[in-house]
Amino acid sequence: MTSVTSVTSCRNSIRDALHQCRTGTLALLQGIDDATFRRQAHSEFSPVGWHLGHIAFIESYWILERCAGFKPMFPKYQQLFAADGLPKSERQNLPAIAKICDYLDIIRTEVLSYLETAPLDKQERLWRWLIQHESQHSETIALVLQLQRSQESRLGSLKVDKLKVENSHETCQEQPAKPKLAEMLNIPAGEFEMGNASIDALDNERPCRRVYLDTYWIDRYPVTCRDYRAFIYAGGYQNDAWWSVAGYQWLRDNPVAHPLYWSADSTWDDYPVCGVSWYEAEAYAKFVGKRLPTEAEWEKAASWNPATGNRCTYPWGEAPPNQQRCNHDNVVGQTTPVNAHPAGQSAYGCYDLLGNVWEWTSSWFDDHKGFVSYPYRGYSQAYFDGQHRVLKGGSWATRPWAMRSSFRNWYYPDIRQILAGFRCAK
Ligand code: AVJ
Ligand code: FE
Repeated sequence: MTSVTSVTSCRNSIRDALHQCRTGTLALLQGIDDATFRRQAHSEFSPVGWHLGHIAFIESYWILERCAGFKPMFPKYQQLFAADGLPKSERQNLPAIAKICDYLDIIRTEVLSYLETAPLDKQERLWRWLIQHESQHSETIALVLQLQRSQESRLGSLKVDKLKVENSHETCQEQPAKPKLAEMLNIPAGEFEMGNASIDALDNERPCRRVYLDTYWIDRYPVTCRDYRAFIYAGGYQNDAWWSVAGYQWLRDNPVAHPLYWSADSTWDDYPVCGVSWYEAEAYAKFVGKRLPTEAEWEKAASWNPATGNRCTYPWGEAPPNQQRCNHDNVVGQTTPVNAHPAGQSAYGCYDLLGNVWEWTSSWFDDHKGFVSYPYRGYSQAYFDGQHRVLKGGSWATRPWAMRSSFRNWYYPDIRQILAGFRCAK
């Protein structure tokens, strides 16, 4: 039996979340021009405008068509905005910004009116999923915008870059400052509870299960630019000793010499490295005599409270994320120093597990015993292909509804356009 008051508070909390999530999504578009809106910045990512239309399309499909029994209100958008409609390279032929914003509004008005009497005792999980769906596309919009900005400033500074490369033999002689934050924490052997069984848990987080881990060490902080500079200056990108076979092949195919979002300026010393592929993270870890944590090692360090023997939703406990605990939700709009959020540390004392930068783990994205696809096979299961690596923790652009220690993100290991760094284990 579900009480009337609990259904009412559930309805109110869904309405609030839909509203707040949308406000943040639309705020990303402030001052955006039409070219930025429709340009595809990278082959793996759709244009900003496509993500917006897709958010409306998914809301319309799952709520209006599947739950409320509507006929499609915008049938001509089906092919354009469905995830399996057009290849990413053919998503630039978009309606104007104002048209897509109208589309979002029209769908949202119907959705809110349906929500007033929707049977939430049966539908809560779907609505919670929908809010997280927009949250994730909202972050992708933020990262595509950052990618476009970085491409523009790169074009503008080509000459300077060339000069830097010509003088790079001098830079290489420089001794990097001693990494003052490099510090590891010991996590004692034992079981912990991995995954998440709450109503907002996505299919790939379920079910909750006990996992035993031997003792291990994990970095207190994400790898900083100061740490990483030592690898660059030691010729890390020129030395195959640090790279796996696949990693060195990737490096030959993509001859880079530093992370995508990189500055050697000491201003950034205490900021996390951001814009590395999984292969770069793997090579750096080997260079310092460490390795990447498994997903289980990362999650235990983030969610387990050894004093109480309980799993926590967030590293700091059960209180919702805020700006004191973690850099998220695009409030700062970029990374922050890795020691800037002491209020967000985990029971074991790790900093910055949530927010700032996503963290690559050594684990493949896969399912657990008892996995059931939700709400469709293509959401997670289609990516259990042994080709995607798990990222944990969220970035400065992650929306609050997708922030928790059990949340799993996944990308191909060669992707460095996302807001990703890493920490090491041993
Ligand atoms: C988990 C971020 C890789 O954006 O492709 C959005 C999330 N799935 N719509 C993606 C997702 C369906 C997914 N990532
Ligand atoms: Fe989607």
